Amino acid sequence: MSFTETLRDKAAFFVSKRNLHKVMNSEEIEDVLESIRNYSGRGFYDKIRLAQIEEELYNLCRRVIEHKPRIITEIGTWNGGTFYVWTRINPQAEKIISIDLPSGQFGGGYDEKRIKFFREFASDRKNTELYFIRGDSKSKETTDKLSAILQKDKIDFLYIDGDHTYEGIKKDFYIYLNFMSEKGLIGFHDINTYKEGYGVVKFWNEIKSRYRHEEFIREGSRVMGNGLIYLNS
Ligand SMILES: C[S@@+](CC[C@H](N)C(=O)[O-])C[C@H]1O[C@@H](n2cnc3c(N)ncnc32)[C@H](O)[C@@H]1O
Repeated sequence: MSFTETLRDKAAFFVSKRNLHKVMNSEEIEDVLESIRNYSGRGFYDKIRLAQIEEELYNLCRRVIEHKPRIITEIGTWNGGTFYVWTRINPQAEKIISIDLPSGQFGGGYDEKRIKFFREFASDRKNTELYFIRGDSKSKETTDKLSAILQKDKIDFLYIDGDHTYEGIKKDFYIYLNFMSEKGLIGFHDINTYKEGYGVVKFWNEIKSRYRHEEFIREGSRVMGNGLIYLNS
């Protein structure tokens, strides 16, 4: 980055951070979703984009907050939409970990530069640490980094929204199951996406009956959808 670009980026970050803090004023799910719509930043930090049907995410969030997760991990963060939501609706969370593959399929990941903006999501929380692993969720390097962050902790809520191929989601599920707490929850996005190259529907239909589970799908929709399984059942 040239000197001028660096200065421009600093100015954009300064304004974006100030605007973010203006909208980040409630932990209620509705308000958090609204704050994403109201947020307007500058330059590299112009928006927090959410790849979700809000009604479906809202219903999933209601279950997540009942569970009061202390340790949260998200596979697939992209522009930070759901990462922002998990952070803001869970003030009790201690570790929130994002795993995303730079230039990954189904979104494209996030630039290293954006991490400082994502960190602002919890800048008012003394007890919450945010972690960012930019790598393939299925690689040993990534799971080693995750183990180092978790130490003795287990994941209470895992959200899988990364590699959407059948093989990809299946591997993610079985790898990350090893990191889950006994009473953990696992959320899946795109359980209702019927598009070429998307294998979540097939995998979800295979495993859901093994667990107590819920589906959050907007009536009449044939896209997106959130699924949730309860491991203690
Ligand atoms: C649909 S986006 C996530 C959207 C986000 N959860 C939201 O709703 O706001 C999917 C993300 O998964 C990431 N991804 C794809 N394959 C991955 C992999 N193997 N490991 C980690 N992340 C991956 C992509 O880079 C992309 O950023």
